[in-house]
Amino acid sequence: MVKLAMKATAKAPSNIAFIKYWGKENERLRIPSNSSISMNLSDLYTVTTVEFDPKLKADKININGSKRVSDHLSLVRKLAKLKLYATVKTENNFPSGAGIASSASGFAALSLAATRAAGLELTERGLSILARLGSGSACRSIPDGFVEWHKGSRSDNSYAYSLYPDDYWDIADVVAIVTNKHKQVTSSDGHSLAKSSPFFKKRQKILGQKNKDLKMALKKRDFTHFGEIIESEALEMHAIALTSKPPVLYWNGATVELMGEVLDWRNGGLEAYFTIDAGANLHVICQGKDANLINNKLRRNKNMLKVIVNKPAEGARIIEK
Ligand code: PMV
Repeated sequence: MVKLAMKATAKAPSNIAFIKYWGKENERLRIPSNSSISMNLSDLYTVTTVEFDPKLKADKININGSKRVSDHLSLVRKLAKLKLYATVKTENNFPSGAGIASSASGFAALSLAATRAAGLELTERGLSILARLGSGSACRSIPDGFVEWHKGSRSDNSYAYSLYPDDYWDIADVVAIVTNKHKQVTSSDGHSLAKSSPFFKKRQKILGQKNKDLKMALKKRDFTHFGEIIESEALEMHAIALTSKPPVLYWNGATVELMGEVLDWRNGGLEAYFTIDAGANLHVICQGKDANLINNKLRRNKNMLKVIVNKPAEGARIIEK
């Protein structure tokens, strides 16, 4: 226990999954069906300030989804044995409604800011577990750089840790924003439907080996092998979504067109691979040296709303504000 600070500000990155979390073993505790691997993103992040205030009669929260935020604060209050309400101010550096999920960076920043403001100093593992309870993939935005979320079997052993720091490998995630619309099926609903796909069990069987292969490619910094794995993994996750009952389709026409473009670039010698989370936007993963070229190529596409170039980034941090 450290002295009650009452107020703290934290910054946390969003992350892109290379091995996807898709399906849960325990819905309430957000224990996933499989381990997953991701990279923190330098240019997509959330900054959150939490201030506990004896004058408040309820939590004051400046974003949508305030019930979920308030429930999360209650977990922190319970941990800290604190009875106060808080003001929460959250800002994303990307426009909300840009089709970019903010729950990973949001719950990671909230978990760190709220625990510090409540006078708690959790370990990285403890923070990751807390963030997971807010939104599964948020647990991967706590540690630095390249991260694995160990699936675990209970709440206290399902958490994320850093495999390599952010300066380990000069690769980039060039995010192509092609829609402003919120997705029609939330990732929570997508997770629940995953098991209804006839291919879900098969996927679970092959994921262990895939996870090992990806870690080997990371260890060797073998970009070709790495890219091949992450692209086929994204397609596999979406194959589960597409064959769920009812089907879940996250792509739009622009997504498919861009997938084709990336394949064409590769055939032409420009090494890039795509991955897609639960939305229509495409993440183009490339080596750092090719990021500008890919940024320029994507910007020329008629459907493009915005392109955001990300480097690997550190995890959640307390900042001065
Ligand atoms: O954390 P959630 O419930 O938003 O789920 C994230 C799901 C994917 O982004 C599609 C995959 C992942 O591992 O991040």
